[in-house]
Amino acid sequence: MRYGDYLNLDRLLGAQEPPGDDGKPRAFAHHDELLFVVVHQVFELWFKQTLHELRRARDLLAVDEVPESDIPRIVAALLRIHEIQQLCVHQFDVLETMQPLHFLSFRERLGSASGFQSSQFRELEALSGLQPAQDGRPNFKQAVYAWLARTPVEEGFAQRYLAAFETYVERQRGLQRQNPDLDAKGQAAVQARLDAYLASCHEFLAGESATLNTACLFLTAYSGEPLLHLPCSLVEAVTAFDEWFRIWRFRHARMVERIIGPRVGTGGSSGVDYLDSTVRASIFPELLRSRAFLVPADLLPPLSDPDRYGFAKDLQG
Ligand code: HEM
Repeated sequence: MRYGDYLNLDRLLGAQEPPGDDGKPRAFAHHDELLFVVVHQVFELWFKQTLHELRRARDLLAVDEVPESDIPRIVAALLRIHEIQQLCVHQFDVLETMQPLHFLSFRERLGSASGFQSSQFRELEALSGLQPAQDGRPNFKQAVYAWLARTPVEEGFAQRYLAAFETYVERQRGLQRQNPDLDAKGQAAVQARLDAYLASCHEFLAGESATLNTACLFLTAYSGEPLLHLPCSLVEAVTAFDEWFRIWRFRHARMVERIIGPRVGTGGSSGVDYLDSTVRASIFPELLRSRAFLVPADLLPPLSDPDRYGFAKDLQG
């Protein structure tokens, strides 16, 4: 076995010439076209690795009872994905060394080819849960939420929490009443906003997705408890994945804007406008929403059975 055989380098390094009109590999139309091809191919390789890790995380989570020893493996897969995401975002810097005019010297050779047609990117959207699943299996989001909803939350927690949240909102009301920048109209507006904030917490903890929402809030609020620490790091890793997916989209859109401005894309979309419209979509909006209802530690209701979430007795010295 030789290095080149193991890595299939003949195929890999022979795959950079784009096909010409006759379907045969053609010469580059500009010096920078190699960069354009290499950067896209490297992204596709990282998409492949990301799918591989995300599938593993999904498979480990999509079982009726996740063994505690699997949680660090899921977190490790997500941390690896996070490193890849950060690397990918920086790769756009390399592409930005290409002058807009130089891109135009081969852009028409792309025809209607566009990243829009990247099947791995679409698979990533489907597997993560941003788009409906394609293969009938639970996607990553469904697996995370089913696992989260099984968090053992203390009896009566939601009621105790709502009382603490009301006190918190009262404190915010008091702070705003002293806001010197608000006239009577501004004051009424901010108090109405706080009314809506309070109502939205009630809906969050008692509405349709109450079980999942309560679990999210419980975990994040008591993340310092030893037994909740590991599940909480999983939630953080999931949140980082979601955040960096959007950072990728934002970064791609800025690079596109810099190179082609607001013109129609080769795929036929409105271009930058379309790309910017995709940036807001979060995979896990419920996890982000739960953070709006966290209260400072001095207001957190004490756990009624703290031992349950502490270290196992036999582990204590
Ligand atoms: C000069 C560099 C690039 C330009 C000008 C560009 C431009 C665009 C435009 C305008 C779109 C919207 C669809 C369309 O109408 O074509 C798009 C979509 C997309 N591009 Fe790029 N792109 C560039 C580089 C890249 C790179 C390096 C990747 C990495 C794989 C990439 C991946 C994608 C993906 C995945 C989409 C679909 C996004 C979605 O639908 O949410 N692009 N690109």
